[in-house]
Amino acid sequence: MTSPEPYRVPMSSPDLTETEREAVAAVLRTPNLSMGYEIGAFEAAVSHFTGSKHAIGVSSGTAGLHLCVRAASIQDGDLVITTPFSFVASANVLLFERAVPIFVDVDPATGNIDPTLVQQAVEDLLAGGVRRQRWLPRRGVHSQAELKAILPVDIFGQPADLDPIVQTARRHGLKVIEDACEALGAAYKRRLAGSLGDYGVFAFYPNKQITTGEGGLIVTNDDEAAALMRALRNQGRAPGDTWLQHTHLGYNYRLNELSAALGRVQMGRLDELLARRQEVAGWYAERLAEIPGVDAPQVLAYTTRMSWFVYVVRFSPGIDRAAVARGLEAMRIPARPYFLPIHLQPYMVKRFGYQEGDFPVTEDLGRRGLALPFSGVMSQAQVELVCQALHAALTA
Ligand SMILES: Cc1ncc(COP(=O)(O)O)c(C=O)c1O
Repeated sequence: MTSPEPYRVPMSSPDLTETEREAVAAVLRTPNLSMGYEIGAFEAAVSHFTGSKHAIGVSSGTAGLHLCVRAASIQDGDLVITTPFSFVASANVLLFERAVPIFVDVDPATGNIDPTLVQQAVEDLLAGGVRRQRWLPRRGVHSQAELKAILPVDIFGQPADLDPIVQTARRHGLKVIEDACEALGAAYKRRLAGSLGDYGVFAFYPNKQITTGEGGLIVTNDDEAAALMRALRNQGRAPGDTWLQHTHLGYNYRLNELSAALGRVQMGRLDELLARRQEVAGWYAERLAEIPGVDAPQVLAYTTRMSWFVYVVRFSPGIDRAAVARGLEAMRIPARPYFLPIHLQPYMVKRFGYQEGDFPVTEDLGRRGLALPFSGVMSQAQVELVCQALHAALTA
C-alpha cells in the first residue's frame, strides 16, 4: 500500500522542548506512574494561575465536564442551556447523565452563545406553557423537567460573554459550568477564562494551547464540589476509603504522572506559548486582509486576552467552502470545516428530533467556517504558503 501524500504544513503541532522530554523521562525513572508528585504540582500550577481554590487534573476535557455535571447534581431529565456551536463533548456530557441540552443560538461575530437569548430561554423555561415549549426539542423531554444549569463554551479561545450569563444564572439559582477547553489563558474583562462560573474545565489534547497528550483539568472555588469530583475521578473513593472501598459510583478519570509532568512544564511556558500563537494569528490576519471573500476571526473588546486555539476563517456567502477545501487538499494543505452543528449530529436528531433551520446562526457559521493549519510553531513562511494556496483555491 502506498501512503497518502504528506501535507506540506501540519494541521496542528505541539510546542515541546527538551525540558518537557526530560520531565517525562524523569517520571519513567520512578515507580510512580500514577497518583504521584506530578499531578499535585500540575494542579498547583493551574490553580495558582487561575486564582481558583481547587484544580483537579483528569484524563480528558470530556471527563472534566462530566464530573462538573455530576457535581452540579444534574440528573435524569434535567434541562441545561448550552450552545449547538461547539465540539460535541460539551453537550454529550449532559446525555451521559440523561439530562437534556437546551440549545440556544450564538452571536454571529464570535460563535459564542448569545447571552440575551440565554436570558430569554431561562425566563421562558421557568414561565412554563407555550413560552417554555418554544425552547424545548421536538421530543425527548419530560413535561416536568427542571432547568438546572447553563453550560457556555469559550469557543476557539475567545471567552463567551459571561457577565450577563452568570447574572442570569444567579438570579434563578442555576449553576454555571464554563467549558474553557479551548481557552486556557484567555481573559474576559481581565478575568481568566475557566474562573468565571461555578466550575471551569480546560483540555490538553495535542492541538491545544498546552498539551498533556490527553488530559483535562477542572477549576472551582467550591470545596464540597471539589471533594466530590476528586472522589469521582478516582473510582468514587472518598477520603478515608481504602483502595477497595467506594463511597460513590465513580470513574477512572485520573491523569497519569507522565501527562501531568508534561502539563506542569507546559504550564510554566504558557505565556510564551500564547505569545507565539498570537504572533501566528497576527500573520494570518495581515495576509488574509488581502484575500477577498474570506474573513479573519473577530476578537471582541471584552476579550482582553485571546488564547488562540484554532484559526477558523469565514467565507463570504456564495463561496463554495467544500470546493475551496478540495482545492487546498489538492495543494496538500489540510483544512477542516468547523463546526458541524451539534443539534444536527445523527444521534441528536434521532433522540430530540432537531431539524435544519432550528439554529440558523449556528448553521450559517457551520457552513462558512474553515479551520486553517495553526500552531505556535508555525513559521511566517508556512502561513504564507497556506494563504497563497487559499487565494489560489478561491480564484480557481
Ligand atoms: C469545546 C470543547 N469541549 C470539550 C472538549 C473535550 O476535550 P477532550 O478532547 O480532552 O475530551 C473539547 C476538545 O477538543 C472542546 O474543544
